[in-house]
Formats: sequence, structure tokens, C-alpha cells
Amino acid sequence: MTSSRRTFLQKLTAASALAASGTVSSVMARSGAPAYIPNLKKVSPNDKIRIATIGMGIQGNYDTMAALRNPDVELVAVADLYDGRLEHAKTAFAKDRDLFTTRDYREILTRSDVDAVLVVTPDHWHDHITIAALKAGKNVYCEKPMVHHINEGKAVIDAWKKSGKTMQVGSQRISSAAFQEAKRLVQAGEIGAINYIESNNDRFNAIGAWNYSVPPDASAQTLDWDRFLGDAPKRPFEAKRFFRWRNYRDYGTGVAGDLFVHLITGVHFVTNSLGPTRIYSSGNLAFWKDGRDVPDVMTSVMDYPKTDAHEAFQMVLRVNFANAGKIQNVTRIIGNEGQIEFSENNLILTKKKLPIAPGYGNYDSFFTFTEPVQQEFVRQYDAQYPPETRKAEPAKEVRFDSPKTDDAHAQHFADFFKNVRAGSQGTIEDPVFGFRAAAPVLACNESYFEQKVVHWDPVTMTQKNPSAPAARPGVARPNVARPGAPSPKAAAKKPVAKR
Ligand SMILES: NC(=O)c1ccc[n+]([C@@H]2O[C@H](COP(=O)([O-])OP(=O)(O)OC[C@H]3O[C@@H](n4cnc5c(N)ncnc54)[C@H](O)[C@@H]3O)[C@@H](O)[C@H]2O)c1
Repeated sequence: MTSSRRTFLQKLTAASALAASGTVSSVMARSGAPAYIPNLKKVSPNDKIRIATIGMGIQGNYDTMAALRNPDVELVAVADLYDGRLEHAKTAFAKDRDLFTTRDYREILTRSDVDAVLVVTPDHWHDHITIAALKAGKNVYCEKPMVHHINEGKAVIDAWKKSGKTMQVGSQRISSAAFQEAKRLVQAGEIGAINYIESNNDRFNAIGAWNYSVPPDASAQTLDWDRFLGDAPKRPFEAKRFFRWRNYRDYGTGVAGDLFVHLITGVHFVTNSLGPTRIYSSGNLAFWKDGRDVPDVMTSVMDYPKTDAHEAFQMVLRVNFANAGKIQNVTRIIGNEGQIEFSENNLILTKKKLPIAPGYGNYDSFFTFTEPVQQEFVRQYDAQYPPETRKAEPAKEVRFDSPKTDDAHAQHFADFFKNVRAGSQGTIEDPVFGFRAAAPVLACNESYFEQKVVHWDPVTMTQKNPSAPAARPGVARPNVARPGAPSPKAAAKKPVAKR
């Protein structure tokens, strides 16, 4: 028996012993499958799923660490465009062994020892690499938002369906205990019919506003600038654009694609909704006037229609990166019998039910009636509302604290790996789910930049009023009163950059 095979079996035995003793982590217990995934399918000679990370920046490191917290997984290769990150990956993940590293992700896709790739590049590369990886027979974990533009979604879904491979989109919070609990509460009717969902994600610091540190050795020699640009417009090397790509529409998706997408993913998971039909945004570039072309204050309103899964509700999302006031970020799902409020990894359920009788008096028109009319009013009221209809159920607050062991990120990967082993496409956030979350947030941007209401069909996943080419970013048009230079990428979607 090889030593890795022995370690594998030892770990399996240890996991089984933990499960039997009842101390197994809640992550395992919740999913019904141990975090250590049984060997449903032999995917490699040493029974490990061999992964490669494409894009080993901030989230690439976090994703890789989370993936590796599942003990049947091994990192075999890394692609990144900045040499420093390839070097760092070797020391961070492969101190005592070899790790294949390359600037060219296509070298990863041709390797037969790679079972799954993690696509953790800037947003404008997601669709290209994902499609190429699926075509190459790899399973794919792709970061959110799944695509950079709405018109890229169907190609990813088609490639996934055709490939038969497993794909997970990376809004990992839906794999948290809190979101699982929220779904249970909503589906059990604990807050009645949902009518409003709100969330704000305010910040006031440079890092929070995406001005990440730029390494002093960044140059056109130490990184592959041309490949970074991909299908974005050609321009001379600029380290700021490479390391702070979120600030530019050519590569990123603004606050909507970066932050709203997590919440909308959670909402769709909890409510079983397919998405909104009407999307409107407004905002401004108020403070971070550092060359970025995306707003730092944005509010979006989305109308969700009544469906078999839920009543109609409105969702309002806000980001203010220049909030120098007291920041109170809240996410609330509000129904007609209560609300769920998320805080960190926990949630508070508040239940409140109105009595049948409406009441009278206090701040009411009752005192403006004449004495005889008041008497007649009371007589009729007493006849209509017996005492039992006047009592409100006492308001109730129930707090749910996630278990300390809750690890949503590792669990999101566990779900992916479980499906890879099973040869199944049934992940918790497959590309259809991922696109139904991505498209409305991308529509938030379209609404903001083009000052229009976006009409979206969440069932067929089509936009009812796509921009006319002349109104598309990058195509000559009257300059709307919005900050930011137009991004040419969406207008003329080019094929995968063949570099
Ligand atoms: N799920 C989450 O909570 C979460 C959190 C942060 C970021 N993200 C997502 O992760 C992705 C990466 O974000 P980040 O903050 O890590 O960015 P980053 O800039 O820190 O890292 C991106 C890396 O991708 C590399 N890269 C760019 N193009 C490439 C290509 N064609 N081939 C190979 N490597 C390439 C760059 O060299 C860079 O090192 C984004 O899509 C972002 O939205 C998700």
C-alpha cells in the first residue's frame, strides 16, 4: 500500500470514528455527507481529486486553502500571470514537493493529472477559461460572478451541459449553517410571506474600496500584461489596473458583481426564487475619484414577481464606500409574520403576528367622532371582534448561532468534490443557478450606466430589453451623466484570446 493511500485510509478511519462519537463537525452533519468524502469514484491513482488553481491572487489563495481543507484533495498545478504569485504559491502550498506553475492556463488544461480547476481570475476571464476547461474535460469551480456580461451566460451553461462535468460557482456563503437555517425557516413559513429584502454593505477604507497593495516589482517583465487584457481593449502596461482590476469595467463588475451577487445568491437559495423581472439602479462616484470608472455609491431595486415558490417581493441593495458615518450593515428578509436578520455567521428570527382586530383609539380618527358616533362605533366593534381576536401573539426573538466549526467555504468545495466523485452535475450552485444570480446584478450595472430599467425573464434567462448596439458601452453615444469611461468589451464580444 502506498503511503498516500495509507494516509487516506487513516484519515477515513479517523473521520468515521469522529462521526460515530457524535463530535463530527456540523459541516459534515449538515450535509449528510462527511466532509471527508467517501470514495464514490476513483478519480486518480491515489484516490485524491487533483486540483489546479488558475488565478492565485487573494481569493485564489483562500479558495485553494478551503479546497484543501477537504482531505481528499491535492493541489498539482497553478497558473497565474504575475511571477511573484507563482513563486509564493510554491512556498505556500508545496514547500517539500514540486508544484507545476505556469503563466499560461492552457498548459493546465492539457495536463492529464488535473481533475478540476479553480477559476479565480478577474471577472472578464471567467467565461473564457471556464468554457475551455469544460471542453478539455475538467471539472470547474468558478468564482462569482459567473460571467462578466449577461450575453456570456448561455455559452457557459451550454458548455457545462455538453461536457457532463461538474461545475460549482463560488458564492460560498450559501453553504453556511446560517443560510441553511434561513432556508429552513423561510420554507417552514416562520416569517410568513416575504415582501421585502434589504441589504447594505457600506465601507470606508482604501482596501475596502478595492485599492489593494501593488507589489513594487510589478512590471511588464514580471507579469503578462497582454494576457491579462484578454478580450479587453489593448492599452499600455499599468500596474494599478492589473492589481486593482475591480475599479475598471473592462475587467470587473463593480459593486453589484462583487458584492450584490453574494446576497442575491443567498436570496435565491433561501426562497427558491429564479430571479427578479425588473431591475433599476442609481448611484454616483462620490469619493474614490482615483481613475476608477465604477460607482462607489449604488442602490439597486429589484422586483421579484409572485411565483409558485413565493409571493411578490422587493429587494433593495446598497453599497456606500464613502460612508464616514456609523456603519451598520444589515441584511434582512422581511415577511408578514416576522423577519430574519443576518449578523456575521448568525441570524436572528423575529416573529410578530398581527391580531385580527384592528384596534381603535390613540393616534386614530376615533377621537374626532361625536360622542354618539363613538358609542355606536364601539358597539359594532365589540360585536365584530370578540376578545380572542384582539390578542396579538407575543413577539418572539430566536437567535441561531452557527456552530464554531462551521466552515462554509470548505463545505462549498465539499459539495463540489462530492459531485465530482459521483460524476454528478447536481451541485448547490451550478451554472444555471450561478447565471440566475449573476445576470440580475450585471443588469444593475446596465441600469446604472444606461439609466434604464432592465426587464429580465428569470425563467428563460433572457433580457427583454437588451441594449441596442449604439447604446452599448464602448460604442459612440452621447455621454450619459454617469462616472466612468465606457467599457468596450460587452459591445463586441470577441472570441477567446488565443495567446
Ligand atoms: N467568493 C468570494 O467570497 C470572493 C472573494 C473575493 C474575490 N472573489 C472573486 O475571485 C476572483 C479573483 O479575485 P481576487 O480578489 O483574488 O483578484 P486578484 O487580483 O487578487 O487575483 C487575480 C489573479 O488572477 C490572475 N490572472 C488574471 N488573468 C489570468 C489568466 N488569464 N490566467 C491566469 N491567471 C490570471 C492574476 O495574475 C491575479 O494574480 C474574482 O472573480 C472575484 O470576484 C470571490
